[in-house]
Amino acid sequence: MSRLALVTGGTRGIGAAISIALKAAGYKVAANYAGNDEKAKAFEAETGIHAFKWDVSNYQACVEGITKVEATLGPVEILVNNAGITRDAMFHKMTPEQWNEVINTNLNGVFNMTHPIWSGMRDRNFGRVITISSINGQKGQMGQVNYSASKAGDLGFTKALAQEGAAKGITVNAICPGYIGTEMVRAVPEKVLNERIIPQIPVGRLGEPEEIARIVVFLASDDAGFITGSTISANGGQFVV
Ligand SMILES: NC(=O)c1ccc[n+]([C@@H]2O[C@H](COP(=O)([O-])OP(=O)(O)OC[C@H]3O[C@@H](n4cnc5c(N)ncnc54)[C@H](OP(=O)(O)O)[C@@H]3O)[C@@H](O)[C@H]2O)c1
Repeated sequence: MSRLALVTGGTRGIGAAISIALKAAGYKVAANYAGNDEKAKAFEAETGIHAFKWDVSNYQACVEGITKVEATLGPVEILVNNAGITRDAMFHKMTPEQWNEVINTNLNGVFNMTHPIWSGMRDRNFGRVITISSINGQKGQMGQVNYSASKAGDLGFTKALAQEGAAKGITVNAICPGYIGTEMVRAVPEKVLNERIIPQIPVGRLGEPEEIARIVVFLASDDAGFITGSTISANGGQFVV
């Protein structure tokens, strides 16, 4: 029987590409989203992938959402923590709300999703936890102290939890994308993209969501069983760790 993958923020952007690639690789897939019902319905109709709405920043909502997914499709064996937000501001102008929203979604959301699934993975002696961090969690980014802190936190989470999961057949890894051509990035004025952003990327272009999705498919596979605690950079050479 094929394994079940749950992708948070799996109905749009990079998450949608991940959901679609996992389905194409033969997995059963459940996609979570926060509130954009219109996009989620269109995604379901287009892909046949089941979408489930809850807020990853709320622990109880995650417990209830995961229970619903597992009752419908079976145990979650692959968790992709992809849901993430930005609330950018220079630090001297950043509000506690902007700080808390980003930490609660991007970092606490990863705890809230992984914790309820972890015991089942341990019991079954198999699991894959793959978290989408960011280049800005590796290098820091002006105007994104909250986002950079949350994404760097995801890397610490990954490294520590990998050590706990290793003996139980569970791998825990992170991917750090650079600039990916999602709606958000494509909405940046072309002049800014061409004159300020792309010149920072040695390969000379934005990444594609599918390029991140293919890394997820590999990390989810049995072939990747010896890779754990890793951070995979996919940034076109923009930042070399
Ligand atoms: N795009 C880039 O260049 C880039 C670069 C580096 C890292 N990343 C990371 O990659 C991930 C995906 O980015 P993206 O650009 O594809 O984002 P996106 O297009 O804005 O999509 C975000 C997805 O996350 C969901 N989401 C947001 N907050 C949520 C919450 N509290 N609970 C549940 N779902 C929630 C959204 O649901 P709704 O549809 O309901 O709003 C949406 O499906 C993020 O973690 C981001 O930080 C992106």
